[in-house]
Amino acid sequence: TTAPTTTTTTSTPIVIGHRGASGYRPEHTLASYRLAIRMGADYIEPDLVSTKDHVLVARHENEIGGTTDVAEHPEFADRKTTKTIDGTSITGWFTEDFTLAELKTLRAKERLPQVRPANTAYDGRFEVPTFQEVLNLARSESRRYGRTIGVYPETKHPSYFDSIGLSLEEPLVALLKKYDLDDADDKVVIQSFETANLRELDHLIDVPLVQLIDKSGRPYDFTASGDPRTYVDLTSPANLAWIHTYADGVGVNKDLVLPRTGGATTTPSALVGDAHAAGLLVHIWTLRVENQFMATNFRIGTDPTAHGDLAAEITAFLDAGVDGVFSDNPDLAVAARDAW
Ligand code: G3P
Ligand code: CA
Repeated sequence: TTAPTTTTTTSTPIVIGHRGASGYRPEHTLASYRLAIRMGADYIEPDLVSTKDHVLVARHENEIGGTTDVAEHPEFADRKTTKTIDGTSITGWFTEDFTLAELKTLRAKERLPQVRPANTAYDGRFEVPTFQEVLNLARSESRRYGRTIGVYPETKHPSYFDSIGLSLEEPLVALLKKYDLDDADDKVVIQSFETANLRELDHLIDVPLVQLIDKSGRPYDFTASGDPRTYVDLTSPANLAWIHTYADGVGVNKDLVLPRTGGATTTPSALVGDAHAAGLLVHIWTLRVENQFMATNFRIGTDPTAHGDLAAEITAFLDAGVDGVFSDNPDLAVAARDAW
């Protein structure tokens, strides 16, 4: 993204299979990605971390106690440790302490068994995929379905991985170049919460970049850069204009677009208009049926496993002008998008 284009909206909002089709399969498994593709997702989303031997694998976190059966492996009991990552103390097992061969002996499990009990039927069946396996899947499924399946990787804790000599950018860029997926029109988008990481990637590859912004509006690497702009709200018009110097879009917590009011209606914030005025696309996360995660306005009752009206929620966000949605339920998201 050396020369970001000034884009106001995409013609058709995109659906990104969040961690695959993680509403229906354990997240970040080839089965989850494959299902998202079958459900019509335009892109699949692998979150990326590194193994000890510097191979990119798809996990939401480098700590894997909640998403694999590592705790059931006595041979890895002594790998359990406590680390401080991005200012948070975490106890568990970390991908950077496992070789790929060791990681491949583990099996994925559902991260939210109380919320998604049906998904636990798949516990123990699927490996932790490498990013290369995800690219291979996207390539073969693109041939099978006769459409290009997009890949939307996120670098997780990139400055932490840099600090332990396991750069995420280096193998990410190398693999994308190897697969000839390093141009602006290759249907690859790289996202990160860290501004410095994206600004570095901007010099390394031409694919679109997306700055992730959580509800706080602050970047995750506010101590890693001396730039004073990283200490303030990334959603301000001035900072959106700054983001456009290195990125093509923002990927924002949905509450930043339709703030939770507790009332019957929500009024969109200025963010979509401000981002479009700055030339940035707006993608939102995360749309899922489980109502305890959803905006108050779309909640139905108090049962944590009850489903809210995801179609209504997505329609409201499309009406608010977003250019894409990350969803754990890509079937419902595609249907809502197509009906919009
Ligand atoms: O990347 C968009 C969204 O996935 C960010 O949140 O925690 O699900 O990676 P997370
Ligand atoms: Ca993500």
